Amino acid sequence: MAKPVVLIAEQLSPATVEALGPDFDVRSVDGTDRPALLSALADANAVLIRSATQIDEEALAAAPSLKVVARAGVGLDNVDIKAATEAGVMVVNAPTSNIISAAELTIGHILSLARHIPAAHASLAAGEWKRSKYTGTELFEKTVGIIGLGRIGALITARLQAFGVEVIAYDPYVTPARAQQLGVRLVTLDELLEQSDFITIHMPKTPETTGMISTAQLARMKSTAYIVNVARGGLIDEEALAEALAAGTIAGAGLDVFSSEPPTDTALLGLPNVVVTPHLGASTDEAQEKAGVSVAKSVRLALEGELVPDA
Ligand code: MLT
Repeated sequence: MAKPVVLIAEQLSPATVEALGPDFDVRSVDGTDRPALLSALADANAVLIRSATQIDEEALAAAPSLKVVARAGVGLDNVDIKAATEAGVMVVNAPTSNIISAAELTIGHILSLARHIPAAHASLAAGEWKRSKYTGTELFEKTVGIIGLGRIGALITARLQAFGVEVIAYDPYVTPARAQQLGVRLVTLDELLEQSDFITIHMPKTPETTGMISTAQLARMKSTAYIVNVARGGLIDEEALAEALAAGTIAGAGLDVFSSEPPTDTALLGLPNVVVTPHLGASTDEAQEKAGVSVAKSVRLALEGELVPDA
C-alpha cells in the first residue's frame, strides 16, 4: 500500500522528518512558489508549514486528499481555518514551541533600541569611533508596556523584571489576579501608551487587532518612547509608524515582522531610528526542533486516525 504523503512546504528542523519516522512519503516544496505548492498539494495527505505558506481556500481546493495542515509555530493567520474546517481538514500548531525564542528576541530588540547596538556596530565597522553619538538609555526604573499578556508576554515580563523595570500591561482577557501573580499592573491601552518608555506588542493578528496601533495611538506615546513588534506584521500600521518615526514624535521602533514579508514597499527600512530583523522570532535551533517534533507527532496521530491532544 502506498504510504501517506506528507508535504513539507517550508524549511523545518531535520528533527521533524526524524519524528515522522519511516511510515510516510515525505516530500518537499517551496510553499511560496504558488504553482508548485498547488501542484504538490494534489496528492498530499498532510502539509507542514511555517508562516510564509498561505493555506487558503484555493490551496485547500487543490488538495482533495488533505487531512491535516500542521503549522510549526504559534500563529495560524496564514491558514484559513474556516475553509479547512468546512473541507474536513484538521489544523494543528505548536503553540508553546517558540515562545521562549520570541521572548528573548523581544528583549534583544528592546536592548538594541535602548543602546543603539545595530547602528553603533555599523558605524564602527565602517571605521568610525563615535562614542557620544550612541549614548543610550538604561532600562532600570523605566516602564515597559506589554500589549497582550499571554504566554510570550508573561515570559518577557519575568525577563524584564530582572532589569528593575516596572511592567504594565493591557490585556482585556487577563484577570487582575493573574496580573498580580506576574507582578504586572493592568492598565487601559491609552494609559499604557502614555506611561511606557518601551512598548512591546504580543497579540494574534485578527481583523480586530490589525492596525490597532495607528496614528491616534502613536500620538499618545512619549517622544522618548520606543515600540517593538515581534508578533505579527500589521498590528502596528506601518505608514502611521513611519510618519511618527520620521517626525520624531516617538524615539524608535524594533520590528521583526511586516505586513508583507519580505517587506519591499515600506519607508520603515530606511529610517535611522528603526532596528529590523527578518521574522526571526522563532528562528532558533531549540524552537525549530520543538516545533518540528511537535507537529510531526500531531501529523502522525492525525494520519493514523488517532485523537490529537492539545499541545
Ligand atoms: C510563529 O507564528 O510561531 C512564527 O511566526 C513561526 C515562524 O517563524 O514561521
